[in-house]
Amino acid sequence: MNPLTLWPVAASEQAARIDTLFAGLLVLSGAILLLVGGLLLAFGARYRRGSHVRRGELPGFLRRDVEIGWTAGTLFLALFLFWWASTLALRGNAAPPDALEIHVLAKQWMWKVRHPGGAREIDALHVPRGEAVRLVMTAQDVIHSFYVPAFRLKQDVLPGRFTEMWFRATRTGDYRLFCAEFCGTQHSHMGGMVTVMEPEDYTRWAAVQPREQDLAGEGAALFTALGCAGCHAPSAAVHAPRLEGLYGRSVPLADGSRVQADAAYLRDSILQPKRAVVAGYEPIMPSFEGVVDEADLQRLVAYIQSLGEAAR
Ligand code: CUA
Repeated sequence: MNPLTLWPVAASEQAARIDTLFAGLLVLSGAILLLVGGLLLAFGARYRRGSHVRRGELPGFLRRDVEIGWTAGTLFLALFLFWWASTLALRGNAAPPDALEIHVLAKQWMWKVRHPGGAREIDALHVPRGEAVRLVMTAQDVIHSFYVPAFRLKQDVLPGRFTEMWFRATRTGDYRLFCAEFCGTQHSHMGGMVTVMEPEDYTRWAAVQPREQDLAGEGAALFTALGCAGCHAPSAAVHAPRLEGLYGRSVPLADGSRVQADAAYLRDSILQPKRAVVAGYEPIMPSFEGVVDEADLQRLVAYIQSLGEAAR
């Protein structure tokens, strides 16, 4: 990018909308500045010391109607701006169901990326153009923030939680990725490159990546290694909830409430099993707090998610 360019390239669907919002706010603020500044100068000149103008009480309509008018006007303007910006933000929240799901793990000081087929990369992210991409992110140590200026997107990545963000890239090319949350001495070097490719090229790229087990595959191995299967497998003697088809379902809890079995719920259930016990089961599951780290949690949740999709 030309270093003299003031406006960064817009490479995602969201970027165009954010730019329109920004330009709108800029024009509006400029207009208000001109109006207020102009009035200030005009009144300053008109009512300067010694000028022969009327300085008595204002006529009644100026005191009342004009006051009500500008108060109501600015109120509606502010509400309109709120509506505009918040609908944009809300639209950015929910990813389309067919979005390509990519896992991101942040740690001091790198971005580790896992693609659905098992391809993995560090400080780089390859995505297909025109397709919805959903990033499911977590951090291993401290708070980081995934920031791609060309996409006009920034999302904090927190330890102990999954955060999500989605986008649809609109033009091919390489775009800088930054960490936008101070996370230690090497924070300023924590970055990388997002490469947007034509969908065919992305498929070809993913196909030639070293074939490793994907997250779900690693999760399955871990599931066995940790002994989870001892209770949760169909053949297990212990009465524990079955995990097939669980992901995304609404689950009844012992206290009568219901909860959506999403990534966050599964994560919590592995770490704090006693917090939300499924109706009809004994609270006998041990906590895996301190046993599994964030990377392992990502694997286990991906495995349980894959069980859900298999059953659907
Ligand atoms: Cu990671 Cu700053």
